[in-house]
Amino acid sequence: MPSHHLHSFSSAFTLVTLFSLSFPLSTHSSFDFNEATVDSIQEAFKNRSLTSVQLVRHYLSRINNLNPRLRAVIEVNPDALAQAVKADLERERYPYDRNRLHGIPILLKDNIGTADKLNTTAGSFALLGSVVSRDSGVVRRLRKVGAVILGKASMSEWAHFRSETAPNGWCARSGQGINPYAASASPCGSSSGPAIAAAANLATVTLGTETDGSIICPAAVNSVVGIKPTVGLTSRSMVIPVSPRQDTIGPICRTVRDAVYVLDAIAGYDVYDSKATKEAAKYIPKGGYRRFLNFDGLRGKRIGILREGFFNFSSNSVQAKIFEQHFSLMRKKGAILMDNLQIANTSVILDYNQSGEELAVVAEFKVALNNYLSQLTSSPVRSLADVISFNEKHKKEEKIKEYGQLVFLASESTDGINSIVRYAISNMAQLSSKGIEALMREKQLDAIVTPDATVSSILGIGGYPGISLPAGYDEIGVPFGICFGGLKGYEPRLIEIAYAFEQATKVRKPPSFKDNFQIVSDL
Ligand SMILES: *[C@@H]1O[C@H](CO)[C@@H](O)[C@H](O)[C@H]1NC(C)=O
Ligand SMILES: *[C@@H]1O[C@H](CO)[C@@H](O)[C@H](O)[C@H]1NC(C)=O
Ligand SMILES: *[C@@H]1O[C@H](CO)[C@@H](O)[C@H](O)[C@H]1NC(C)=O
Ligand SMILES: *[C@@H]1O[C@H](CO)[C@@H](O)[C@H](O)[C@H]1NC(C)=O
Ligand SMILES: *[C@@H]1O[C@H](CO)[C@@H](O)[C@H](O)[C@H]1NC(C)=O
Repeated sequence: MPSHHLHSFSSAFTLVTLFSLSFPLSTHSSFDFNEATVDSIQEAFKNRSLTSVQLVRHYLSRINNLNPRLRAVIEVNPDALAQAVKADLERERYPYDRNRLHGIPILLKDNIGTADKLNTTAGSFALLGSVVSRDSGVVRRLRKVGAVILGKASMSEWAHFRSETAPNGWCARSGQGINPYAASASPCGSSSGPAIAAAANLATVTLGTETDGSIICPAAVNSVVGIKPTVGLTSRSMVIPVSPRQDTIGPICRTVRDAVYVLDAIAGYDVYDSKATKEAAKYIPKGGYRRFLNFDGLRGKRIGILREGFFNFSSNSVQAKIFEQHFSLMRKKGAILMDNLQIANTSVILDYNQSGEELAVVAEFKVALNNYLSQLTSSPVRSLADVISFNEKHKKEEKIKEYGQLVFLASESTDGINSIVRYAISNMAQLSSKGIEALMREKQLDAIVTPDATVSSILGIGGYPGISLPAGYDEIGVPFGICFGGLKGYEPRLIEIAYAFEQATKVRKPPSFKDNFQIVSDL
């Protein structure tokens, strides 16, 4: 299986190379592609120093060069150049203002369904060749505004829900994803591929998904921006699920502004995820989220620092010092920081097992996955039981043996959303209402602030939003992040805070590929 897989991977690139040669080679662009933002690209489209075709060609070639080492991309889209041609023609013929994502290449985590030539597999061979019956809700919206679907990004296989021992960033189809800042560091997951790809400039923007930490963790350690939206703000339809109670789709990009442009494009009602998207649609502001890209967005914001259980660095570490500098800068920018706040029962919530999250998610996965598989037009597997048999049959080829499938087996042994599961769910609801809800309302907070993805279960079990952005680099150059979290629908204030923080700190540096990274000689 692995060698067959490598073959099909490289032939996908060959296909694209051949395909691109059939297009007239436009003159070489002088555009600076490194760290290119959506605004700079749109400006260059407008002043005719860049075309979407040139942009797509650039990313395809960069993927070709870097991906054998980074393993951030599973498949590139054979139709990406054709979509770019179409975008260029549209701009040429009707040069009015379009959506910011028009002609912009985007990579999608491999669990986000596309009804095109790309496979949707959650990184697993079990789903290779399965056919989705329609685009996922978020992809339908992206196509509508003219974004170019560049390909599928790798991920921790099955959103890290197959095996407890598989490393983050690993999947059978593309192998181990690599943190571009330090090969020895984890890329985290499960949206490892989107975060690596955004960090290494393999696309303009990317999309990930989160159940508990899967956007904010890889965003933090790959020095990019991740937005985990309120559950239901973005449709989960035709996305390979973990838990519909917690799953959410969100952008992973190099800047807050780019992530907000993506959020504006994908948020909203979807008839195929109607209950959750209808409920959350009330949070979407008129004029979109970009209105909150406010340079002075920290002024007057009440932000609670959660120390105990979260800020766990020794006091002389780089992280501890840098966070204190960030806090004093935030105060200088007008934020009101309330220090040493505590969420009731934090230690219970942060323990997946004690909160009831584990029990609930393990039961919900089976129901949700079987429902997803039943909607496929065709598929080699039609149930979790089929996936387990597939893994068992191929365990030698696919390292199933090493990593096992204990989580799958636990899930298969559950029998739906029974009274025990309902009890666990109501326990989590209690923990949320007496925890983050009570604290934020009592102190009238706009946000809580924590390092990296330490807060993920608090946000996860309640369906709350969070934004992670670059905070610094440790002694060996591994990035760390800062996360602003809030209650449902708090995206506008989180965006104001995150944007103002980013503009004041300008932490992000692209990976140099020099230190701790052997690829440099192959470039
Ligand atoms: C076009 O816009 C890009 C992006 O802002 C800029 O780098 C470039 O210098 C501009 N070129 C011209 C000819 O104005
Ligand atoms: C999807 O998977 C099939 C089966 O392996 C493969 O032939 C095809 O090339 C894949 N699609 C892309 C776009 O790589
Ligand atoms: C604090 O850090 C230690 C050592 O890194 C770790 O084992 C522990 O789980 C952390 N505690 C929390 C609450 O994050
Ligand atoms: C916690 O873990 C134990 C043993 O692994 C298991 O029996 C129990 O059901 C779990 N509890 C919850 C609430 O998930
Ligand atoms: C914290 O947990 C304990 C036991 O799990 C429970 O009795 C108590 O009500 C909880 N406190 C809050 C504020 O939720």
